[in-house]
Amino acid sequence: MNNAAAPENRRDFTPLLGKSFLTPLYDRAIGIFTRENLWRQKIVEHLHLAPGDRVIDVGSGTGTLLKALMTDCPEAGLIGVEPDPAALAIARRKFGAGADLIKWHNGFLGNLELPKGWRPNKIVSSLVLHQVPLREKQAILETIETLLVPGGTVLIADYMKQDSHLMRALFRATVQSLDGVSDTQPSADGEVEKLFAEIFSEPRLLDRIPTVTGAISLWRGYKKGIAQ
Ligand SMILES: C[S@@+](CC[C@H](N)C(=O)[O-])C[C@H]1O[C@@H](n2cnc3c(N)ncnc32)[C@H](O)[C@@H]1O
Repeated sequence: MNNAAAPENRRDFTPLLGKSFLTPLYDRAIGIFTRENLWRQKIVEHLHLAPGDRVIDVGSGTGTLLKALMTDCPEAGLIGVEPDPAALAIARRKFGAGADLIKWHNGFLGNLELPKGWRPNKIVSSLVLHQVPLREKQAILETIETLLVPGGTVLIADYMKQDSHLMRALFRATVQSLDGVSDTQPSADGEVEKLFAEIFSEPRLLDRIPTVTGAISLWRGYKKGIAQ
């Protein structure tokens, strides 16, 4: 697939680790503090990619998940949606010559122009929703539902409900100290699960992984209206 980046970054976004100057440390920090291999591998397993699948990664960051997806199924079509040009540059470097096999959209999901005749049957997003305001969490989930083909699958891995004293304390001391409280607290209080259940059919918690930065939950749902 051709690369067709379309910069249109007039809206705000929270950088990878909350502050732009920390961006070069992102991959190392996620690797050390979030049990990254475990939850990324679970995403890959639950997505069941097959040749011909068309996948969007919302907030693709430094491209680590896209890399795992491409390794799992090189014949799947992949789009990375990412508003931060610094993150996108790291992602492209990570892919080297393979970067042009992915369509990179430097912007937001709502502004994504799909290639002609191309609609996603799978959409994934990891560690994005906790960083954005509540109304943006809802807008992203609703846009995902709209974009998916009938019967299409969504998988979200993120800091959602922190349901023990320990997880809440760890989340507060790490993620909230970097990303702030106003956008992250609704996630820690379980608001994303509520939105997810309203917007998608058959919402299912596949896993909840405790980490030293709080619990990361993996949820699956389907576009509404079509039985699986
Ligand atoms: C913590 S990083 C996660 C990156 C990547 N998904 C991963 O798993 O490593 C959050 C990413 O979401 C992006 N982002 C922030 N606001 C966004 C929005 N409204 N829509 C899409 N991506 C957004 C940020 O630029 C950042 O790259």
